[in-house]
Amino acid sequence: MAKTNAPRLDHFFSAVAARLDLWRDLARTAQAWAARPASRGDAALQAACSEALTALLPLEDFQAYPGARVLNAIKERVHGGDALGTARLVQRVSSALMSRSYRSDAGEFEPEDDASPERAMPATRTEGGARPYFEVLFVTPTPASRWAAHAQQIRKLRRPEDEFVYEPVFVGSFEDAALAVILNTNLESVVIYDGFPYESSRDVPLLKNLLSSRLSAELTDRAAGADGLTLAKLVKGFRPDLDIILLADRKPDAILADPASAGLRRVFYEVEEPLEIHFSILSGVAVRNDTPFFNNLKKYAQKPVGTFHALPVARGKSIFKSNWIRDMGEFYGANLFLAESSATSGGLDSLLEPTGNIKKAQDAAARAFGADRVFFVTNGTSTSNKMVHQALLEPGDIVIADRNCHKSHHYGMVLAGAQPYYVEAFPMVAYSMYGAVPLRNVKKALLDLKAAGRLDKVKTVTLTNCTFDGHVYDVRRVMEECLAIKPDLIFLWDEAWFGFARWSPIYRPRTAMGARAALKEAFADPAYLERYLAQEKLLGADLDPKDARVLDTRLIPDPRKAKLRVYQTNSTHKSMSSLRQGSMVLVADEDYHRHEQAFKEAVFTHASTSPNQQIIASLDVARRQMELEGYEMVMQAIQLAIEIRVAVNTHPLVSKYFRVLDVEQMVPAEFRQSGLKSYTDGGATWADAARAFREDEFILDPTRLTLMCGTAGFDGTQFKGLLASEYEIQLNKTSRNSILLQTNINNTRSDVANLLKVLVEIAKGIDERLKSGGEAARAAFAARVKSLVEDVPDLPNFSHFHDRFRDDPKGTTLEGDMRTAFYMAYDHDGCEHIKLMSPEIDKRIASGPPLVSAHFVIPYPPGFPIMVPGQVIKADTIEFMRKLDVKEIHGYDATLGLKLISPGVLDGTSEKSKKKAKPAVAVVGV
Ligand SMILES: Cc1ncc(COP(=O)(O)O)c(C=O)c1O
Repeated sequence: MAKTNAPRLDHFFSAVAARLDLWRDLARTAQAWAARPASRGDAALQAACSEALTALLPLEDFQAYPGARVLNAIKERVHGGDALGTARLVQRVSSALMSRSYRSDAGEFEPEDDASPERAMPATRTEGGARPYFEVLFVTPTPASRWAAHAQQIRKLRRPEDEFVYEPVFVGSFEDAALAVILNTNLESVVIYDGFPYESSRDVPLLKNLLSSRLSAELTDRAAGADGLTLAKLVKGFRPDLDIILLADRKPDAILADPASAGLRRVFYEVEEPLEIHFSILSGVAVRNDTPFFNNLKKYAQKPVGTFHALPVARGKSIFKSNWIRDMGEFYGANLFLAESSATSGGLDSLLEPTGNIKKAQDAAARAFGADRVFFVTNGTSTSNKMVHQALLEPGDIVIADRNCHKSHHYGMVLAGAQPYYVEAFPMVAYSMYGAVPLRNVKKALLDLKAAGRLDKVKTVTLTNCTFDGHVYDVRRVMEECLAIKPDLIFLWDEAWFGFARWSPIYRPRTAMGARAALKEAFADPAYLERYLAQEKLLGADLDPKDARVLDTRLIPDPRKAKLRVYQTNSTHKSMSSLRQGSMVLVADEDYHRHEQAFKEAVFTHASTSPNQQIIASLDVARRQMELEGYEMVMQAIQLAIEIRVAVNTHPLVSKYFRVLDVEQMVPAEFRQSGLKSYTDGGATWADAARAFREDEFILDPTRLTLMCGTAGFDGTQFKGLLASEYEIQLNKTSRNSILLQTNINNTRSDVANLLKVLVEIAKGIDERLKSGGEAARAAFAARVKSLVEDVPDLPNFSHFHDRFRDDPKGTTLEGDMRTAFYMAYDHDGCEHIKLMSPEIDKRIASGPPLVSAHFVIPYPPGFPIMVPGQVIKADTIEFMRKLDVKEIHGYDATLGLKLISPGVLDGTSEKSKKKAKPAVAVVGV
């Protein structure tokens, strides 16, 4: 792995937290200094303060708070030997940063301890309370000596009626602008005055390192030049939510002719009325802050509405008047009931055919997620997936699907009558789980179908990105290679867990919408066509499925033919601030018009006619939050995850029994082209990780933490139960020997501390038990660990559908008519049950007739269907099932045994089959 002088990975994510830590360090040192009676020790502590301040100052240039006046006051106090004054002021800043009180308390910007809000910098208070606060980056060629005066002019533009208040931050070069965009999470807008130089004048290692990192290489593309438009484009690529206002020194028509101008909020030519810029800044943030549906729901809740519809809880009278259920009203508060309605009028809208505020809210979500359109769904992604399958697929269409995908896909295909062509993910036998589907398997499926003359039947590819356990695809590459084989393929990326990823510049290229945007740009680039033509020369325009090179070559599609047809579903409730079941379907399909009506039908089929208003409102609000503070929150979630990884894996006692699995354990080497093994060990730098994110077939989402607990003698279910019952820690997925923890935008450092404390306690308990229990206890423990960690069952692959369900039983391709098999299970007489342990099972496997599943059989964990309707059951599946020690197996009733489709039904020899067959014979006779 190439070593660079880039920072450690955790340093990149912790750039924001590092600043707080540095302030805390300074506060501690200053307090120690202030606590000392005047003595010679003073000088050392004063020097330490000065040093801590020097470490901090370069980061402060990119932040509005505490600002130059407070920083100068601290500097003066340190250098003037005022220990008490330093300690007081530094503590105040440190606390204000922690509590974020500076966002609403203007007094915090004053250096004097008795600062009066009148003289304060940001007038954050209005009569109605605190106005939302943000910061605006001004990139300008004017000398730094003029920035303070410029800032004052900007503050003078504030008006009492402004909806928000902002503070300016000034930088004078392209590189410094890039640093500010990385480091300042309070930014909402960037005002760029053309004419600034490229290079930063700062020579601070941390900052230089950040700039030299591969990620910011994109943000600081020197070759692209240092003009305002280039900066605007790169900033938009890094943080798409930021508004950009460009004051160009080129004529506006020249600017607007440049495609890079598409992302600009406003372009001004040379000098402009400062008030106009002020309005542009405020109105840009107002657009993101607007929540059309939620706002109307709030208004609606205040209306004196008489209700004569069928929803007694609306307005809450049945609750607040009640003698018996008033506690529900007290618990939830009146607003919940005031905001309940079954109406679609009065400012509300219909989820089934939105034309008003729901439509506006969906359009805002489309903007935020980078999609063309969005459907809000109030029954979870389980429903979103079924809707997409129904809308896109006709009976008989083939879907290339990850066999481990969520059950909503399997059921969606049954409902649609589509034929799944299951592709296998790489197995992780040691942890009893699957990874993600290697691209080679998907390509092979497509090429096999092409060779069999059935490619035209293939409509969609559906994959889970990221998987439950954190495997993230190279989404762009998957789409490119598949489109090279079939240019009109539709992709359904199930990003149930990954909706938040849009708000991290590192994850975004690996999301459905991020990859779609990149491909859209690539397809329009003449150089891409050149690359394609070179490939065409080598492999031909019509790829030969028998040509081994096709599978081995990293293909690109013909950009003149390939269509971008991308769908994403995400459980907004799983990773953003939506209420349970809030989900979205994102559409970015250039042929959407072909499915528009079908989507309406799909909504009518699946959406409740009584959708929950609160879920819809929370989708609207979750979008608002991500557009305004998603960057910071996701960065923090990643950083906390890295802190947990380090804390668990390096704690002397905890790491004896537990380990958070690293990249190396979660992603086999063949899929890690970059060679990255760990996010935390072995000095992995930010540059290494960024390279892995760009090059590796699969990367591990650092926020998904598989904690090995088999090594502590617990199976996953047992450990999950222990954490929940004894320590109030909740999680949702387990495997035979691990549990899955995840950090999200909700977590704090206290959660990390609590988790570690709990693990220390449990590890201590094990240690003590082993010590006091003697040899017998140690042997029992070792045996338990061995059984959990080493004696793991092999994971069964999908075998094949029974010939009865294959269009061409003699064919070589794997797809099958699962729906017919599914409905055969409804005919009880046509099915049989055999107990799992019965020797009959082994006999049938050995010498037939084949065992054919009537049901989906899905054990939890691991949560994937080890049998689907119509699948021929093989010995490996039976062995796996016999070894399974889980209680929850959907589709399997242990008292009855496996439900199978009777051989007579399958070969048409059963009485019922014969009877059913008769009319057909009669027709032939006629
Ligand atoms: C990959 C995947 N897709 C879809 C879903 C269903 O999402 P929801 O719970 O929002 O219905 C899940 C649920 O766990 C999932 O893991």
